[in-house]
Amino acid sequence: MNKFFKGKTFVVTGASSGIGRAVSARLAKRGVKVVSMARTLKKLEALKSQAGPNIIVFQGDVTREDDCRSAIELAVSTTGRLDGIIHNAGVSMRALAEETDIQVYRDIMETNFFSMLYFFKHGLQHVIKTKGHIAAVSSMMGRYSTQERSGYNASKHALQGYLNSVRLEIMKKGVHVMVISPGFVQTENSVNALTADGSRYGKMDRALAGGLTPGQTAAVILDGIEHRKRDVFPAGLKEKIGLFLSKWAPSVLDKVLIKSKVK
Ligand SMILES: NC(=O)c1ccc[n+]([C@@H]2O[C@H](COP(=O)([O-])OP(=O)(O)OC[C@H]3O[C@@H](n4cnc5c(N)ncnc54)[C@H](OP(=O)(O)O)[C@@H]3O)[C@@H](O)[C@H]2O)c1
Repeated sequence: MNKFFKGKTFVVTGASSGIGRAVSARLAKRGVKVVSMARTLKKLEALKSQAGPNIIVFQGDVTREDDCRSAIELAVSTTGRLDGIIHNAGVSMRALAEETDIQVYRDIMETNFFSMLYFFKHGLQHVIKTKGHIAAVSSMMGRYSTQERSGYNASKHALQGYLNSVRLEIMKKGVHVMVISPGFVQTENSVNALTADGSRYGKMDRALAGGLTPGQTAAVILDGIEHRKRDVFPAGLKEKIGLFLSKWAPSVLDKVLIKSKVK
């Protein structure tokens, strides 16, 4: 087996389900010590019992700076190094902008965007020492936008803008920065999405159910890290056509998206 990952240490957020869980399990299988962070302890313990002792469970909330700093400290104090941060925790929405409480926007930005700043602030010095990796799970919705996701799309665009800027600043220090832009993936993403008043949407969208598996997505992410790619797009053909149109014919894409089902 390829030895690239063996002996390294990563922090992965949002590790209790979906993409983050699959990434944690794959890294652990490749010999990485993984500080797997999320709020739901039971699910993290289930991950550890399935993926083995390379998983270091850390219960924490990415909207709290102290928790993010503690996750980094745990990685360094337990293994003596930090080779990568994969910020994956995130929450989506299903609601029209005109009906959505402003607090829903703030909550989405805290989870999806500001958390990245905490990891950058507390983790960068360690990642510089290993010439390691800073990666974040954005979305195709960080490249173009659909209806009923205004806050989510804004947060993912913000994440990409931030990382595209810091990449230029830290490239000379040998740190690899990667933006992950998945299309539809079969996870709890829509179930956990927020509605206009902040309550959970609670339903599995048909598009997500027909998307890539978390395992397929994790494989693309690990390959991107190993080959120090700038961007990866784990997505189906439809989302990739959307990406192409967003760049070369955005008005045509608008005409398609205005008619397409958003749930
Ligand atoms: N599924 C898709 O189609 C899709 C497409 C593009 C991008 N994405 C992105 O992929 C990432 C992973 O989502 P997923 O699809 O795997 O959905 P998911 O199954 O709902 O997983 C979300 C993860 O984030 C964690 N999380 C949420 N809020 C958190 C907080 N405040 N602190 C710590 N952890 C938190 C959740 O754990 P706890 O609840 O236990 O804390 C869970 O582990 C997200 O950033 C999402 O936007 C997903």
